[in-house]
Amino acid sequence: MTQDQKGHKWFASIYDSMTARAEKTFMRDVREEIAGGARGRVLEIGAGTGANFPYYNDQAEEVTATEPDPYMLRRARRRAEGIGRSINLHQASAEHLPFEDASFDTVVSTLVMCSVGEPLRALSEVRRVLKPSGELRMYDHVRYEHAFGAFWQDMITPVWRWVGAGCHPNRDVASFVRQAGFEFERIELSKPQPPIPPMVFVRPHIKGVARPA
Ligand SMILES: C[S@@+](CC[C@H](N)C(=O)[O-])C[C@H]1O[C@@H](n2cnc3c(N)ncnc32)[C@H](O)[C@@H]1O
Repeated sequence: MTQDQKGHKWFASIYDSMTARAEKTFMRDVREEIAGGARGRVLEIGAGTGANFPYYNDQAEEVTATEPDPYMLRRARRRAEGIGRSINLHQASAEHLPFEDASFDTVVSTLVMCSVGEPLRALSEVRRVLKPSGELRMYDHVRYEHAFGAFWQDMITPVWRWVGAGCHPNRDVASFVRQAGFEFERIELSKPQPPIPPMVFVRPHIKGVARPA
């Protein structure tokens, strides 16, 4: 069993309160756009506590969500029950998705590629399970474009990973998305976090829609 499947009990228990400020200031709008724009057969990976669930609308005809961490999964299940939305939940890592090729119209991934063990493998799995006409709707914090910021992200990553349940501040997520065989239909860079420690280390974010190339 890998660490992501053993889970992080304490991290799962504080996740919603830890992210409350971000939810209020920018994540609400992100989820509205990313999850709210999902359509057809939808797969969400790394669903966490299910923060995207309330944002799926009727365009999302069937929603399946995966999450490897059993403590997160329990919370996601409770959230789905609480909003009365039928969501098929599976305990699975993004690197090993238990679904057939070309079986989803949309894959949703928010703040997940920073945490997966093998981002390229995970995104290749996403590409495999997406229909050729499908889309990946994603949001993540990413590596600084300038060397000074990236240097400090590299310095802090070992500690941050330990405190943040495997989260890497220093990943160039867009480049993994492209390497996995996607091209961005749109991609937007923003810096929604304050320019002071500790959030300065996870300040640049990308929001994008990518399609199989
Ligand atoms: C920062 S949380 C984000 C949760 C949620 N997507 C959100 O937007 O609030 C990162 C999530 O990725 C999950 N995760 C870690 N490793 C993973 C993997 N290999 N495959 C899929 N999800 C993973 C964690 O368990 C956690 O729930």
